[in-house]
Amino acid sequence: MLMSGPDKEEILRRRTFAIISHPDAGKTTLTEKLLFHGGVIHEAGEVKGKSGTKAATSDWMELEKQKGISITSSVMTFNYDTLCINLLDTPGHKDFSEDTYRVLMAVDSAAMLIDVAKGVEERTKKLYDVCRYRSIPIFTFVNKLDREGKSPLDLIDEIEKTLQMQCHPVTWPIGIGNRFRGIYNRLNKKVILYNQQREDDLDVTIIQTNGPTDPQLDTLIEKEILAQMREELELVEGVLPHFEVEDFLSGKISPVTFGSAKQNFGVDIFLKFFCQFAPGAQPRQLQNGNALNPLEDNFAGFVFKIQANMDRRHRDRVAFIRICSGKFERGMKIKHMRLKRELRLAYSNQFIAGDRSTIDVAFAGDIVGVNDTGNFQIGDSVASFGDIQFEDIPKFAPELFARLSVRDALKRTKMQEALQHLSEEGAIQLFIDPYVGTQDPIVGVVGELQFEVLVHRLNDEYNLEVRLNRLPFGVARWPRTKDGKPVDQLKGNFTIYRDAIEQPVILLNQEWDLNWAVRENPDVEFHTSISRAR
Ligand code: G4P
Repeated sequence: MLMSGPDKEEILRRRTFAIISHPDAGKTTLTEKLLFHGGVIHEAGEVKGKSGTKAATSDWMELEKQKGISITSSVMTFNYDTLCINLLDTPGHKDFSEDTYRVLMAVDSAAMLIDVAKGVEERTKKLYDVCRYRSIPIFTFVNKLDREGKSPLDLIDEIEKTLQMQCHPVTWPIGIGNRFRGIYNRLNKKVILYNQQREDDLDVTIIQTNGPTDPQLDTLIEKEILAQMREELELVEGVLPHFEVEDFLSGKISPVTFGSAKQNFGVDIFLKFFCQFAPGAQPRQLQNGNALNPLEDNFAGFVFKIQANMDRRHRDRVAFIRICSGKFERGMKIKHMRLKRELRLAYSNQFIAGDRSTIDVAFAGDIVGVNDTGNFQIGDSVASFGDIQFEDIPKFAPELFARLSVRDALKRTKMQEALQHLSEEGAIQLFIDPYVGTQDPIVGVVGELQFEVLVHRLNDEYNLEVRLNRLPFGVARWPRTKDGKPVDQLKGNFTIYRDAIEQPVILLNQEWDLNWAVRENPDVEFHTSISRAR
């Protein structure tokens, strides 16, 4: 049955999105300003940038603070206008692309942040590809207009060519860098003048015009800068088709706004535009081929992230559930589809970075963090009734491998437990060597920095000093028969390892070895990942 009344209204006002960007494009800064507009923080600067001693709200882990990178991702909720907005933070570093991928599974739209000087960077492109794969609608925010950068026409051209996506400028910059005078809002024909006196003194004037040629502007903006803006806009208007919301929602066209996150300039326009066009909780694909309507009164969701030790004092573990339909109530009983048993979700939290608050109700579109005593894995589906299985969240095949040993042999069991936790979190993948057993497990990761984080966390959170001996492997594949059954023996003398859920897997040095395995075993399929046991 579909929901009605106030609960339905709550679902309809949810907007859940993530910001994707190359490191340093200004994600932390923009997040801070969005939270500021949402009234979550009250002074710009309360959530600081992440250089040196300052710690950004979203970078709550120690190592993140030290390294100045965002590794884990948190959820920030704020109200703006009539909407309740969930902003999911994504790790910027490439070595954590799998985390980003999972976060993007949990959102309904994304904002792509581009540094005006750097344009489309490598990492932006990769993240964009993930959004494209899921057809997520993408807003584009061109940042750092107060610095010198590329001309807006060149930039739009670059975005369109590199990402094969049409852009639709909503605002247009008036000058750039030292000559930056403000932005023109094409929707309501307002000009927002930017007048920076000092670093901390920004004077903003808003003028209603009747278009870029309005003579009022001649007295306010230098001739050359104005002429350039008029010329560029004339070109843009000449070629720009009408903004079709459908094309945006299907991911074909991206509305572009310009601004400076640091100066909190253009952020409000972005936010208003976002509120007008961002899609609410979308229907979710189920494994049976149906799509689940978010307004269904059956509570259903999936786990997209697990984080251990968020609160060091309690050694807890939190499973983050994206609610896809219905209403969540604290203490409710749910069916855990993989375990085929009922669970009570007694402790539920909402997070702003390290700070958490208990939440009693949440709705489709929201993210809740539930305390987990080891029941959840990434990709698990839960629902208040019925058999609901959401689409799988694919794992990335690890490319770097190391054998781990603990310095204090008496702590071996503890290390195994810790690795089990971290592998359930999806932070690493665990492999057992048939000749060595669980004593010195093998760990696989996608990016180098994940090893560093692993060693740090084992030490910091579990008080374990470990040694990491790198192994020459570069490829992991899960052998399966054509009808999906695990294969325990292969021709060609390949060692069969086991993963954390005891599935057979082969670890190889290079693609060449894989080709050999394929040639020797023509009836076997070699998977880069397998669906988690359900
Ligand atoms: P990230 O999370 O995407 O990695 O980027 P972050 O917000 O940390 O921003 C990276 C750097 O860019 C920071 O400078 C930040 O202040 C600066 N920045 C962000 N937005 C703008 C903008 O609109 N204009 C200008 N001029 N700079 C911007 P930093 O030197 O690393 O830190 P800080 O000392 O400024 O805090």
